[in-house]
Amino acid sequence: MDFKENLKEYQEIVNNELQKYVRKEKCPEEILNNSMEYSLMAGGKRLRPILAIATYQLFKSDYEKVMPYAMALEMVHNFSLIHDDLPGIDNDDFRHGKPTNHKQFNEATAILAGDGLLNCAFMVISDDLKNTFEQYQNQLKQFFESNKNEKLTGKENILIELNNKTKVFNEFTIAIDRMIAGEYVDTEFEGKQITGDLLEYIHKNKTGAFLKYSVRMGAILANAKEEEIEKLTKYAENIGLAFQIKDDILSEEGDEAVLGKPVGNDKEKGKCTYVSKYGLQGAKEILDRITNEAVEIVKEFDNSEFLQELAIYIKKRNK
Ligand code: IPE
Ligand code: IPE
Ligand code: MG
Ligand code: MG
Repeated sequence: MDFKENLKEYQEIVNNELQKYVRKEKCPEEILNNSMEYSLMAGGKRLRPILAIATYQLFKSDYEKVMPYAMALEMVHNFSLIHDDLPGIDNDDFRHGKPTNHKQFNEATAILAGDGLLNCAFMVISDDLKNTFEQYQNQLKQFFESNKNEKLTGKENILIELNNKTKVFNEFTIAIDRMIAGEYVDTEFEGKQITGDLLEYIHKNKTGAFLKYSVRMGAILANAKEEEIEKLTKYAENIGLAFQIKDDILSEEGDEAVLGKPVGNDKEKGKCTYVSKYGLQGAKEILDRITNEAVEIVKEFDNSEFLQELAIYIKKRNK
């Protein structure tokens, strides 16, 4: 299948799954629910859940197992976008070609919609962990009630699954912590000259950490070997940084109508970006180099064509 079609198919899978978490009932907080839906279903590219699913598929085919965790990624991502657009942070009026959440609703609703999406992610994960743990308990119970001579074979799989899920949950909280730290430092140094190292720190945290985590999530849930996880982490670190460098480039020379969010806003705010630091050409050269590295790393895996093309898509994207 051609990459574009493949990407579209993944996006549909993610959108259909996300739709299941949208609350439609009549209740006093109906507008809050609508505002959460407004941002969650606004037409994002869904790269984080797609990275998690596609990485899992390098090793296993039953990708439904990643779904709750992949949905949690997209929920937290949208929380971060709603808060990033608020007047106290980037003060932006447009995203996904529509008014930002606080413009469409109001600031209080937008803050709470962000909080709501963040917590939704934790509800989805904790629910899955609870179910997996119950499955494990039931298997143990059956074992102890049956003939004690029976071997415990097969039962260890669920323990491995539980262990991997717990690990992924722990890393999830750390990735969110890094994203918030990156957003803070980004805001704190707005309008100031900063070193290349600090700029890289901001990008690796505010954007890179979550993308890196998305890939690790897929690999860990698929029970990949440690050395495989390490290689994929390197790939993910590169595309994570590449993603934000491209975001800086698009803020300089993107087409607002395609991008669906403002162009020129980084410059207006005096933000230090890869473009202001290294020039447009310099930023593009770094982007090229780290994208090529990412492709070379992931090439070592069988059936990694989609992940290779995704790295190139991140570099070439216009939205
Ligand atoms: C935008 O992310 C914010 C950054 C982290 C740079 P995306 O480009 O992935 O956002 P979507 O596709 O609109 O959800
Ligand atoms: C957003 O970074 C990063 C997060 C929300 C974590 P930016 O402020 O650079 O991204 P855009 O350009 O608003 O999407
Ligand atoms: Mg920002
Ligand atoms: Mg912003």
